[in-house]
Amino acid sequence: MTKTTDPVAINDWQVIGRIDDFLKGQPKQTRLLGQSLVAERHKNGDIKVHEISELGETLRSCPVQEKFGHVWTTLGKPKRELFDIPEFQQIDRKYVGCGGVMVKASALRVVENFLDIGHFPYVHTDFLGSEPLTEVKDYKAEIRIDVDEVWADDISFHQDKAMLSATGGKAVEYMYRVVSPFNTVLYKTCPEKPEEWDIIGLFAQPLEENLCRVYAFMLVFDSQNTETDLIHFQQMIFFQDIIILENQLPVGVPLYDGAERSIKADKTQLQFRKWLKQKGLQFGTDQET
Ligand SMILES: [Fe+2]
Repeated sequence: MTKTTDPVAINDWQVIGRIDDFLKGQPKQTRLLGQSLVAERHKNGDIKVHEISELGETLRSCPVQEKFGHVWTTLGKPKRELFDIPEFQQIDRKYVGCGGVMVKASALRVVENFLDIGHFPYVHTDFLGSEPLTEVKDYKAEIRIDVDEVWADDISFHQDKAMLSATGGKAVEYMYRVVSPFNTVLYKTCPEKPEEWDIIGLFAQPLEENLCRVYAFMLVFDSQNTETDLIHFQQMIFFQDIIILENQLPVGVPLYDGAERSIKADKTQLQFRKWLKQKGLQFGTDQET
């Protein structure tokens, strides 16, 4: 496809890779919102990103930011700054980047799946849940207008192995935060430091309407496990989701009324869809015909 005309997706910051993947003198080609890009780290350390034509000609340059272990750019003029994740300032947290995984699905479907707690006992059996403890107790989900984000909190349910550092099954608390349409963070009970939250985030790079690269990361308090063990645990969970994500129909997230039936546990997804609709986002959505 060609570059989207969707102004909401264009005029926002989008991830294009992990900082570690941009090496000096090694131009890197990628896609964003249907547009081909070339990114290169120059001798002075700065990364330059350009749109390129289908014939490989260099077109306009795009703004770049390196933040949260990742590289961000925009194809337009963002109305607001890149969101903040203040926990990145807590130096005693362990940051673990889990790499990028290509998923043949809309980036919005990936975010929506991340917000879905109802699937845990069935898809992540014996880790994030198990039958018969499938009940999702009532919780709060809302669009926070002041920060233009979707939040869900007061979430609590039983998990068998919530994190690699967890010892045995227990009730785990969650909060979700959707910081922009393709980027989300969750806060969950920290087994090692109960007064803090462990953080798991997903940054999804929307390559095409139905194709994205997903970068997961953790910001955790875990003195026991190696980075490799933590990555393997997170990847195992995510790979369990991929088969579902790649077979979901319709491919885009439907934003019209009555598109998909919902249940109480879907509260966060409902707020997410409402928020996307209010924004007028088109890219990665399914429009009623
Ligand atoms: Fe999942």
